[in-house]
Amino acid sequence: MCGIVGMVGHSPVAPLIVDALKRLEYRGYDSAGLATIEAGQLVRRRAEGKLINLEKRLREEPLGGTIGIGHTRWATHGVPNETNAHPHFSKDVAIVHNGIIENFAELREELTREGYEFASQTDTEVVAHLISRELARGAEPQHAAFNALKRLKGAFALAIMFRGDEDLIVGARNGPPLAVGHGEGEMYVGSDAIALAPFTDSITYLEDGDWVVVRRSGMQIYDMNGAPVDRKRQQSVGISFLVDKGNHRHFMEKEIHEQPEVISHTLAHYLDFTEGRTKSFDMPFDFGRIERLAISACGTAYLAGLIGKYWFERYARLPVDIDIASEFRYREMPLPKNSAALFVSQSGETADTLASLRYCRTEGVPIGAIVNVRESTIARESDGVFPTLAGPEIGVASTKAFTCQLSVLASLCLRAASERGHISREEEKRLVHELSEAPRFATQALKLGDQIEKVARELSQVHDVLYLGRDTSYPLAMEGALKLKEISYIHAEGYAAGELKHGPIALIDESMPVIVIAPHDRIFEKTVSNMQEVAARGGKIILITDEQGAARSMIKTLETIVMPEVPEFIAPIVYALPVQMLAYYTATIMGTDVDQPRNLAKSVTVE
Ligand code: AGP
Repeated sequence: MCGIVGMVGHSPVAPLIVDALKRLEYRGYDSAGLATIEAGQLVRRRAEGKLINLEKRLREEPLGGTIGIGHTRWATHGVPNETNAHPHFSKDVAIVHNGIIENFAELREELTREGYEFASQTDTEVVAHLISRELARGAEPQHAAFNALKRLKGAFALAIMFRGDEDLIVGARNGPPLAVGHGEGEMYVGSDAIALAPFTDSITYLEDGDWVVVRRSGMQIYDMNGAPVDRKRQQSVGISFLVDKGNHRHFMEKEIHEQPEVISHTLAHYLDFTEGRTKSFDMPFDFGRIERLAISACGTAYLAGLIGKYWFERYARLPVDIDIASEFRYREMPLPKNSAALFVSQSGETADTLASLRYCRTEGVPIGAIVNVRESTIARESDGVFPTLAGPEIGVASTKAFTCQLSVLASLCLRAASERGHISREEEKRLVHELSEAPRFATQALKLGDQIEKVARELSQVHDVLYLGRDTSYPLAMEGALKLKEISYIHAEGYAAGELKHGPIALIDESMPVIVIAPHDRIFEKTVSNMQEVAARGGKIILITDEQGAARSMIKTLETIVMPEVPEFIAPIVYALPVQMLAYYTATIMGTDVDQPRNLAKSVTVE
């Protein structure tokens, strides 16, 4: 996902913009650039690849100026090269953009007919020329921008500068977030509070359709009709620590190791460990009254939701319909009035998940959201928010957010089970106690790093891996496959172990490791049968189980990772760690960009 920043102040902005862009690197990008107004002219430097290339350009050709905009680009239209890097210029306009202008082709054709020449393949450049055309028609800069915005269809967060006005940045938001930062005689815009953290923690978020006029003296926000509006000015969470990896090589490693702590924080937010019950947190719907629950999310968040489905149905007897958001949003799922919807999202900005939420809004069902960014769009558009207290997750591959999502889902499941009368007070106490043990077991799982790193050396030599699991280990098998492929680029698939003989068994040979996630639970023997099927065909098995499982499997494995004995209820939370570590170590051995894997963005705010 692209990142944008802008600032107008009294000191040279170029190094400050680069610093802000560094804080947006976690979003994923493939080129970067910035522009300032120097000696009355719009000037820019852009570079393909990482920010170190842009910094090199700036050392060779420094940029002056106390007003500027910057951008990290995750290519949507046009290859990731310098020509397509932002900022884009038109005659008197410089612009940076996050999102997709869906009607850019017709606008480009219209402008080309009027003689405008395009230097790039991007949709963004269309906006710069639209604004220039408005200026040529006599509009003042901010009105030129407003008139141009009204022609745009699609998703955009924009920051715009104008030659001839060194005290004006216009921002706009329709979809991807945009924040305004308040300084002392300085003002900022940015994709999120993280980018602006070095300068201010006083933030105002624009709503969809808003645009803003920013000057050193302050700002004024307008709605899509051009009427002035007020938006809440808030203190952003303390995030200055986030750029520090501590003594870890990668953010992902740091975040894997933060899990015992953040799982504990999250559980403590929802559970009263002393009383052995869920706390009385506000609910946007009454679990006792609803007959169905729809869950939707993307990627790892979806897999957390899928584990939640098993829990809601098993312990609360609440039927759950779950689908990946990119399908959910177009499926037109019938949602009876006595149902509710729950969305899971680390960033709270994922376009498909937001669109699914908005579908449910039109269907009139109450909406809950499990998010890691409290002020995110998904949070703001929900009737009830269930925060994961994971802290900012910088690694593109989601780890601590996943186990915190599971912690919230498990807590909500206990609330539902209790309100629907499907667990006794004693059972509730037992299950709350089991959850309270999750951080301790997670800490024990982290101690298996050396053995897991040894297995990773095997995986780093192969091209395909199959993950198998049953019940709540099945979504975990898919999560393991997702983790491995997204950071090591090794092809991997997660399958229900019981599905093996319905096709995937044809893949089994000695060249493809099979990773089996199988705590010793009530269906362990069924998974043993699947492992026998694999072993009989020369497959190499890596078994992740516990002492009992290791003793009972009686199968020769390439490696058996023995986890602590954990209660079945919390197994998905604890077994997520070895799965994450396996992917992490494999990727580090392969030398990939673990925190910012190729082609990936931390949050996909476009379709
Ligand atoms: C997970 O490792 C991926 N980075 C990705 O699948 C992610 O979970 C997905 O894009 C959803 O993001 P969200 O949780 O911010 O909505």
